[in-house]
Amino acid sequence: MVVIAIDGPAASGKSTIAKKLATELGYTYIDSGAMYRAVTLEYLRHCEELNATKQSRGNDEAILQSILNDFQFDFDGDDVIINGQDRSPDIRTNLVSQNVSYIASFKTVREKLVELQRQMSQSKDIVMDGRDIGTVVFPDADLKIFMVASAQVRAERRAAQLKTQGEEVDIEQLVKEIEKRDEIDSQREHSPLVKADDAIEICTDDLSIEEVTKVIKSYCRTGEPL
Ligand code: DC
Repeated sequence: MVVIAIDGPAASGKSTIAKKLATELGYTYIDSGAMYRAVTLEYLRHCEELNATKQSRGNDEAILQSILNDFQFDFDGDDVIINGQDRSPDIRTNLVSQNVSYIASFKTVREKLVELQRQMSQSKDIVMDGRDIGTVVFPDADLKIFMVASAQVRAERRAAQLKTQGEEVDIEQLVKEIEKRDEIDSQREHSPLVKADDAIEICTDDLSIEEVTKVIKSYCRTGEPL
């Protein structure tokens, strides 16, 4: 089975490109970030039920363990199904984005989700995007891409995405949040965001979706850019 791993920081264009690439190649697209978002959504719901404030949470490891014990996750096309319910829009709110790097730093969470990600690839060709796909989940992936873009461009892209969901955000604030997430994602102890030695780096600042897809497809065919 073929595995294409696409890693990179938040809002670097990974998911748009990975989805388009998968469609054009006839592969299955798997959004690993959606899985971390799903656990975060469940965590926030638990905290709300417990009426816990950030200060009073002290038992996050135990809360996450209990969430993961019952965690049923699946994709239905583009839809994200958590414990039998379609929660697609709920995992993309700014509140989930603000908390997801914290939740993704827990070893228990990473171990469980990596196991699920490997299972998902067993019988099909896939394009999976995330932070550790080429380094940890599939170190032997057939092709590894590391996608980057400036924080400003990424904030503008994320703001446009949130706007389509009716959420207005301040761009400067978003730049700060994105930089904070980059820092947490790349400095965490477990599976930090780093470029695999054998990954191809692509900066998407000045490239259209079509141009990036074309470059990656050229590597798929020849192992070298056209
Ligand atoms: O790609 P995204 O922005 O939807 O990812 C959400 C968060 O999940 C991101 O801040 C880091 C985390 N993540 C991760 O740690 N490992 C992955 N493979 C995918 C996402």
